[in-house]
Amino acid sequence: MYQLICIVGARPNFMKIAPVIEAIKNETKCIDVKLVHTGQHYDESMKHQFFEQLGIPEPDIDLEVGSGSHAAQTAEIMKRFEPVMDDLSADAVLVVGDVNSTIACALVAVKKGVPVIHVEAGLRSNDRGMPEEINRVLTDQISDLLYTTERSAENNLVREGIAAERVRFVGNVMIDTLKKHLTRATPANDTLNSIPGGDKLIAENQGFALLTMHRPSNVDEEETLKPLLETIALASKQIPIVFPVHPRTASKIKEFGLSGLISNANIITTGPMGYMELLGLMSSAKLVLTDSGGIQEETTALGVPCITLRENTERPITVEQGTNTIVGANSQLIFDTVQEVLSTGGKQGRQPELWDGQAAVRIARDLEQWFKGRNA
Ligand code: UD1
Repeated sequence: MYQLICIVGARPNFMKIAPVIEAIKNETKCIDVKLVHTGQHYDESMKHQFFEQLGIPEPDIDLEVGSGSHAAQTAEIMKRFEPVMDDLSADAVLVVGDVNSTIACALVAVKKGVPVIHVEAGLRSNDRGMPEEINRVLTDQISDLLYTTERSAENNLVREGIAAERVRFVGNVMIDTLKKHLTRATPANDTLNSIPGGDKLIAENQGFALLTMHRPSNVDEEETLKPLLETIALASKQIPIVFPVHPRTASKIKEFGLSGLISNANIITTGPMGYMELLGLMSSAKLVLTDSGGIQEETTALGVPCITLRENTERPITVEQGTNTIVGANSQLIFDTVQEVLSTGGKQGRQPELWDGQAAVRIARDLEQWFKGRNA
């Protein structure tokens, strides 16, 4: 058996690893998976309900690193992952996405001479001020096998000197998860009924917009967060907004004394949500406002208009073929785009190539051949 260590750490990793582990179990005969959770995200709302809802096996090992500065968190993951690698004698380490856990574990593996496999490789915002961009570039440079979600990713990788034969365009594992669970998603009204103010929103029956926002570039500085929230408060006059608040954002709203901006507007807030609840809300929303990478892709797969509160995207296919519009932090543009989407229904979009629910199956089959090829 080939020993494969799969890594998860933060919330968006869970949706990506679930179909990969399942496909390896169903499609291959000679790969044994060990799951390591770094503990980057640790709260019940940020971790446990995802494992349950997505049927991810309990991690074999939890490194329990918790939060910290980028350096402290990355270093702690590396320190704690190294002895685990020694114990497990892995043949390869598989990482997903672009969070600190991704680069930390990839770096430990490559320094031990163990090949790294990166799922969701090659995405580039070309914005080095974004922590995830650094994680993407570095992880790809030290990966042996790189699975991509859209064709533009391979061009990015080749431009950075990565050999094309190591790159495989397989589609989007996060969309595998979405397609698998969509029919079982929690109905939006059930979720709204459980949020204070949600019953009023259902009774008014005019639909709602969904907002998520957690990027450091949007929430960490008062000069950015305050005008953004003011604009969103203004937009909520056009359509009620449902806002599940990420812990990072919640602590900044409190620190800067901005809660009044939200409570005085047509916005209802709640804590971070489980996957099934968010999927149900997303699929019923008239539009989604977000700075998340994953939600740009999920809205494209759902055909729901997405307004992205960032200056750029590493996922250009969601703009070129999907339902995504990039507006940055420009108040007028945000307001006008909300108005336009509400009056026109927004971009129709179409399903990007290979976002068909089978990406993880393609990965599992390819991975088995890759392991066999290395042994031959
Ligand atoms: C991380 C990822 C980001 C991803 C996001 C999804 C990096 C660099 N960033 O950002 O790419 O989009 O996850 O959520 O890896 N906290 C809790 N409970 C938790 C986890 C965090 O309260 O379970 C709070 C802590 O105050 C912590 C803060 O959230 O300091 C930020 O957490 P962290 O994991 O450092 O970064 P995220 O902003 O979540």
